Amino acid sequence: MIAKGKNWFGAALTIRNPVDAQERAIVDNYADFGSITPENAMKWESTEPSRGVFTFDGADAIRDYAATQKKQIHCHNLVWHSQLPLWVSQGKFDNATLISIMYDHIKAVAGRYKGSCTRWDVVNEALNEDGTYRSSVFYDTIGESFIPLAFKFASEIDPNAKLYYNDYNLEYNNAKTDAAARIVALVKSHGVKIQGVGFQAHLTSESTPTSAAVTPDQGVLEAALKKMTVQGVNVAYTELDVRMNTPVTPAKQAAQAEAYARVVRSCMAVEKCEGITIWGITDKYSWIPGVFIGEGSALVWDENYKPKPAYFAMLKAIQESPNPRGCSADNCLRALRSTSVSGRLAESQEFCASYYTQYIVTDITLIKPYAASACGGDIVSRVSSACSCLPKATAT
Ligand code: XIL
Repeated sequence: MIAKGKNWFGAALTIRNPVDAQERAIVDNYADFGSITPENAMKWESTEPSRGVFTFDGADAIRDYAATQKKQIHCHNLVWHSQLPLWVSQGKFDNATLISIMYDHIKAVAGRYKGSCTRWDVVNEALNEDGTYRSSVFYDTIGESFIPLAFKFASEIDPNAKLYYNDYNLEYNNAKTDAAARIVALVKSHGVKIQGVGFQAHLTSESTPTSAAVTPDQGVLEAALKKMTVQGVNVAYTELDVRMNTPVTPAKQAAQAEAYARVVRSCMAVEKCEGITIWGITDKYSWIPGVFIGEGSALVWDENYKPKPAYFAMLKAIQESPNPRGCSADNCLRALRSTSVSGRLAESQEFCASYYTQYIVTDITLIKPYAASACGGDIVSRVSSACSCLPKATAT
């Protein structure tokens, strides 16, 4: 993924007691996973079970694991209606008190992991399927401004983490997708920072009792992602799994592999799609069968830790991705020639990025002549400065 210009491929992680060595060996593998998301350890019920009483053992263990393994942490999550202790959801607090409770929680949790979280899911699942706001203690008490407020608090407390809004069923490019784009606009309209929208991507490979729709085709997925990126934010698949009616058959596994590949291809095709996280490793521990009765086999390794066709299909989709930035070096040169001066910086970054990712060129001097001949001298310094802040491509 990194060699293809993305920032991570990751997995949700639960630290088991005792550790499951087979599962752990899979997550440890840096060639597969550069990021982890705590499956439950950073949620409100885990970190502040009673008011002002914080329990950080589980979340600390995640932080320590990620530090040892040099992996990013996609921190998850700060404000959510679910896995929320009753003292919050049934506390009958007034507006000002609930805002201060939200602030105290964010201060304690985001403050503790400041510097460790590459990203934070600041607000999770604030929307209904029809795009209206979900009723929750936060929305019902504070109104929609609970969302910009949460982002404001998070950005003050951890200015370096990338701040995400995260939700499910955004992948179908429908009313809920539109509403997520409106949340981005809402937060920005308050002058508050929001940098990404997480598409959870709890999908299916066939119609099931809990989802008539199957994983959309690549065009729909891309259109949904782009509804956010036109607002100037990044996107990511944050909790990918593809369930089916069980029991699994080889044909169902093949359909699942194709669905996973569609998701990966859509991310590779959208420049501002910065990464993908799958929601666990082995079907042995997947959350799906417990919540969607009669459905399962949703992950990429089976109960016996054997990689499924979906694993190889995703790998192939990554490897075959022609150019993660959506243009070849030649196209970038053409773009550089044809763009107006005011548009050149973005094009330069594209151009530069395509060299880094496609040819793994780490020396700016190799790029300069191309930029100079394409656009004249003034662009060279812009390309140089644009390139200097890009991560250097590595072989993973
Ligand atoms: C799930 C976990 O996987 C389960 O272990 C837990 O019991 C319930 O939550 N959307 C989210 C995730 O944002 O936090 C949820 O994770 C799955 C749906």
